[in-house]
Amino acid sequence: MLSNEAFIQQSLELNLFFLRILKEHAFFMEAAFGAKEQSLAQQADTLKCELTTLLAETIMLADGVISPEVLCSGELVTKFTFDAERATEFYSGIQLDTELTRMELSLDRKQNPVLATLLVDQVSALNQKAITVTTVLADYKSKLLQDILSCKVFTFNYPLLIDHILREARFYLKILYQLQNRQVINLLEDIIDQQKFWDRIMAEHAKFIRGLLDPTEVALFDTANRYGKVFDALTEQAMTMTEQTTILPQLSSKTYKATVSLRDFKTAATEGLLQCKIRALAVPLLADHVLREANHYLRLLNTFNGRLQ
Ligand SMILES: [Fe+2]
Repeated sequence: MLSNEAFIQQSLELNLFFLRILKEHAFFMEAAFGAKEQSLAQQADTLKCELTTLLAETIMLADGVISPEVLCSGELVTKFTFDAERATEFYSGIQLDTELTRMELSLDRKQNPVLATLLVDQVSALNQKAITVTTVLADYKSKLLQDILSCKVFTFNYPLLIDHILREARFYLKILYQLQNRQVINLLEDIIDQQKFWDRIMAEHAKFIRGLLDPTEVALFDTANRYGKVFDALTEQAMTMTEQTTILPQLSSKTYKATVSLRDFKTAATEGLLQCKIRALAVPLLADHVLREANHYLRLLNTFNGRLQ
């Protein structure tokens, strides 16, 4: 059974990362509807507000609890997040609550020892609320995807993007349930699961970037296309992994190198969009969002690689 300390820390770190990701998913869906679908846009906005409230609650509980590795990983906020949000608010006219970003930038690292029984109850209640809102969000995404695929609804988001963010919500839910059951995670099983999941996500990010670039951005298009292929191959290899596989450490370190390189590409894309130097159909927050996901994956791979050696 997971100790109280591990339960609190793992829950808060997970919620800080995923609640912001989900809040932005709600925003991406809200912003991509045409004039006809304002009721769907309104529902997405309501979900965005609920996720914002939960993220604020998580930030309050997390001060002084989070590991330095997570705090400096760039998975919670990056040096671009605040500006990316401001620019995206400017373009879309939709509020993003940059105050939360400011609070996250000044979160304090873990002070030993963390802990009060009160915090266990608060974190458990927080996880439960996260499960509720994430389930509603996943249902919304799933219904939207079905309606898009059966040509009942039009949106400026790719169907694959809705499918992608639905998988992310379900992945988060799965970990929330494990935490609520105080399940101790088997390291090898977890490495393999995470790689199967995140390699595909990274491949799709590269393909989204490729598809959102202006046709004149030929060099960036080719680079994004290459990353798509690199991560498709890594996904295929990860899919064949089992706990007995001896090449796992080798694959994890190869994946780490590829992800560092993709992360650098996403950093350049975020900067380029913020400086108005890249022509694309993407708001800066989308670039910062996928950058944070790469940073999250790199931190996980780093932890795994350290333990595999
Ligand atoms: Fe993603």
